[in-house]
Amino acid sequence: MSRLTVFADTAPGTPILQTEDAAAIADALKAINVRFERWESPVALSPDDSAETILEAYRPYLDGLMGATGAGSADVIKLTPDHPQAAALREKFLSEHIHTEDEIRFFVHGAGNFIMHVNGQVWDAHCVQGDLISVPAGTRHWFDAGDQPFFTALRVFSDMSGWVAHFTGDDISARFPAIA
Ligand SMILES: [Fe+2]
Repeated sequence: MSRLTVFADTAPGTPILQTEDAAAIADALKAINVRFERWESPVALSPDDSAETILEAYRPYLDGLMGATGAGSADVIKLTPDHPQAAALREKFLSEHIHTEDEIRFFVHGAGNFIMHVNGQVWDAHCVQGDLISVPAGTRHWFDAGDQPFFTALRVFSDMSGWVAHFTGDDISARFPAIA
């Protein structure tokens, strides 16, 4: 189930807000300009489906989103625990960073945590199948899908160079383990 947990950035372990209600999650995240939506799958998809099949299934949603955001491209990324670079890929985005364009992800299968650090608070969004999240450019955040990562996600973007992580040097993510 989708879940949002918010902490003061000085108080890990003491949530000031926790909700599993999708509308409440979307409302709360709106305050920090993070877009959150639930998309119903138009067709039944299996984790073995090709990227083309997945993109085609979500095409109406993607067209709407691209029209709203101006992002021009979408692709599919899959990560499974047996991926040879699973640990390295986890490590890559586990420290606080920003990007030069919005980080837009839709979870087709599986789950992962986007954790934003805004206005002295830590916003841990546990995203699951059917969740869209868009983290605005310049927002401090990190991502964790755990040590057994399993997800298939759509990425919506304008320029792949926007995926480069610019690390802030803040070690805050070590103090706020993702809530799976
Ligand atoms: Fe990121």
